[in-house]
Order: sequence, then C-alpha cells, then structure tokens
Amino acid sequence: SRITLRQLLDHAAENGYGVPAFNINNMEQGLAIMAAADAVDAPVIIQASRGARAYANDLVLAKLIEGLAELYPHIPLCMHLDHGNNEATCATAIQYGFTSVMMDGSLKADGKTPADWDYNVGITRKVVEMAHWGGVSVEGELGVLGSLEHGGGEQEDGHGVEGEISHDQLLTDPAEAVKFVKETEVDALAIAMGTSHGAYKFTRKPDGAILAMNVIEEIHRRLPNTHLVMHGSSSVPQDLQDIINAYGGEMPQTWGVPVEEIQRGIKHGVRKINIDTDNRMAMTGQIRKVLTENKGEFDPRKYLKPAMDAMTKLCKQRFEEFGTAGQA
Ligand code: G3H
Ligand code: 13P
Ligand code: NA
Ligand code: ZN
Repeated sequence: SRITLRQLLDHAAENGYGVPAFNINNMEQGLAIMAAADAVDAPVIIQASRGARAYANDLVLAKLIEGLAELYPHIPLCMHLDHGNNEATCATAIQYGFTSVMMDGSLKADGKTPADWDYNVGITRKVVEMAHWGGVSVEGELGVLGSLEHGGGEQEDGHGVEGEISHDQLLTDPAEAVKFVKETEVDALAIAMGTSHGAYKFTRKPDGAILAMNVIEEIHRRLPNTHLVMHGSSSVPQDLQDIINAYGGEMPQTWGVPVEEIQRGIKHGVRKINIDTDNRMAMTGQIRKVLTENKGEFDPRKYLKPAMDAMTKLCKQRFEEFGTAGQA
C-alpha cells in the first residue's frame, strides 16, 4: 500500500534502519524492485527522475506504479520524485500520485548552476507548503553534489555542475543545515559529502579525504530528528564492472561508495540512500552477456529476464545490508 516518505522514514528512524531509494524508468525495473522487496519483506522507495518521467510518460509510469502496488499490497510503497527542479515538476508529480517529492533547490532550475541560500530556502519552503496541503512529503538538498576528489566541476557522466565549485559547497555546512531545516520544514534533507552521481565517483577506494562521512555525523549531532539522505550512493561493485567488461564493455576502472560507509551513515541519521547506477550496471551486464553468448538472439525477454533477475539480486542485497529487510 502507498506510504509517504515521512511515514516510512519515521519508522526507519525508530527502528534504526535505512531505506534504499531505487530509480525506475521502465516495467522491468519496477518488477525487479518489487520482487526483491517481496522476497525479503522490505518497504520500498521507488523514485523517478524528470528524465524517467519523460522516457516512460507520466501516465504510463503512474499506471505502472498502480499495478505494482496492487500486485504487492502488503509492501509499503513510497513513490518519490527524484531531483524536482521547480514548483511545477513537483506539483505535476503529486497530480500523478507521487507520495513524496524532492525539491532540489541546491541548483537553479537548469540543474547545473549552484543556487544561493535565498533561492534554495524560498523555493523549497514554497514546495513544502504546497505538498503538505495534500499530505505529500518533501526532500530538500543543501550543498552541491560533486566529487571532492575531482574538485566538483564537470563529471565524466555529464551530470556535473557548471563553473567552479568551491570545496566548501561540496560539503554541507552543519550550522546551515540546522537553519535550512528550520526555515523550510522539509521532511528529509539531502546533504553533500563528496559523492557524485554516476559510475565515476572516485579513482581509488575512498577514504575520509574524499568521502566525508564525518560531515554526516556532525549534522546528525545537531539535527538528531531530521532524516538524512545520501545521493550518489551506488557502490559500483567490482564484479559488475567485470561482467560488463568481459562481454564487450569498456568501462574504465572506478570506485563507488563502499557499503560499510553507508552502514556507518545509517548509524548517524541516514535514512534514504539513492541508488541508480548499480542497477543500471546489473542489468547491462546481463544484457551484454546474453547477446554476446547468443549472437542470433533477438527476443527481448531473453535478455531482459536475466537483467531483471540481476537487478532483483542487487536490490535484495541492499535491503539486507541497510536493515530494511523484515521491516515491511
Ligand atoms: O539523478 C540521478 C539519477 O541517477 C537519475 O538519472 O536523470 O539520468 O534519469 P537520470
Ligand atoms: P548513483 O548514480 O550513485 O546511483 O546515485 C543515484 C542518485 O543519487 C539519484 O538521485
Ligand atoms: Na531524491
Ligand atoms: Zn541524486
């Protein structure tokens, strides 16, 4: 059944677990996430980006979610807008039945230019007022997502921000976080501590110099009742890189966020953990494998079924690692 982000993360905080938020673009990903949740009895957050909404079509996406919820009525399901960029994208998501929206005011509506304090507080506060009229939750973001190692700027995945980003902006300031939550009344706060979107986060296994988990601990100390969100939280597992590269892929060696660092975050207020890249890689590895081993194959089910199964396996693993399993 449908649940808001606030309801789900309140339960997660009371019981000391984290909830992965998996991105969805199509039916296969939706079925894979729900099969994993059902197998381990976990509540789920399914999130769609603006790109996903354009790709699948809002109406088809909404009906897909309706179908998934009906198929698994015993699984609490939060449908969340990932990186809403203005009031309108948040409002239309709510019209299509999303129970939670992210208003990412850390960047201007172009999704590239870092925004100032007044812009972020103003637009986030406005979305919170509007969403709360209808009982919908809101996630805000303070601090600019981007690799500390690369000094922000353009990332290899093209998700980078425009211009020079100072080291300061890449780490959320704990004192500002307190002020931001008070002024906006967001239900959850996404923070920046050195991660970035996509597969190319770090060129080595991250340590405290490039993945600042201590920032999370300090924010949690000052905001013990605020649900924290980690974006860019794919672990980019070595075995998935290896499968892709064994079957014709050419992904340069890379490192993501180690699961044990996320588990450390969960001990310090992290309740929502955004994961897209790992699932993309899990699916792509199997598609490459099937098509490489069976060059005459042309039935999409023959490669999409293994792709779904690989995604289900990854999702189950994260539910277990984050303590979500058994909490539905
Ligand atoms: O924000 C990053 C998520 O992985 C969604 O990516 O905008 O390509 O759908 P996307
Ligand atoms: P990854 O690219 O690390 O999976 O992060 C996804 C994300 O933060 C979506 O908002
Ligand atoms: Na989000
Ligand atoms: Zn994100």
